[in-house]
Amino acid sequence: MSLRLGDKAPDFTQDSTQGPIHLYDWMGDSWAVLFSHPADFTPVCTTELGMVARLKPEFDKRNVKVIGLSVDPLDSHRRWARDIAETQGVELNFPLLADADRNVAQLYDMIHPNADSTATVRSVFIIDPKKTVRLTLTYPAPTGRNFDELLRVIDALRLTEYEKVATPANWKSGDDVVILPSIPNEEADKLFPKGYKELKPYLRITPQPK
Ligand code: BEZ
Repeated sequence: MSLRLGDKAPDFTQDSTQGPIHLYDWMGDSWAVLFSHPADFTPVCTTELGMVARLKPEFDKRNVKVIGLSVDPLDSHRRWARDIAETQGVELNFPLLADADRNVAQLYDMIHPNADSTATVRSVFIIDPKKTVRLTLTYPAPTGRNFDELLRVIDALRLTEYEKVATPANWKSGDDVVILPSIPNEEADKLFPKGYKELKPYLRITPQPK
């Protein structure tokens, strides 16, 4: 059964390059990005893990912990980490789950048999501090993901969690946002002191709240 938005993220304990990880304890009060890749010693995955390692300060700033996964064993992960450091110029500075028994891959439905019968696809789960799944993405093996997009969407998730706004197409942090259609103008007048432009009753644009 695949996981849907709003579902509770399944908890697990699994080995990783940073020791055994119990997901809920490891997350604490942080958000998490759990992402799978097909296999160790593969080209796209090597660049993806290097990119996430370089972007780690950006995830940290947003109170988001990142954790990778493939179904290869720990000794393979450890040998591959040396290649990542050598070719990507950055140490693997976040845990990589060694899911050789496929426990986590099955819990999160990361193996799509019609794509590949054994390897995990490129799944992404963004999990909030209440351990609720807030976003999922699935990419095929030959297509690397855009991790700037993950940072962008985390900014949007966090903003729309706390403010009565939504983010329009191609929004990035600092751009104008739209007021939720469920908020009547009388309330919007109070909530958005900088004002808003009403293009339609359902389309009201306002500067991003702080
Ligand atoms: C990879 O690097 O993971 C990969 C590249 C091409 C096809 C499948 C996987």
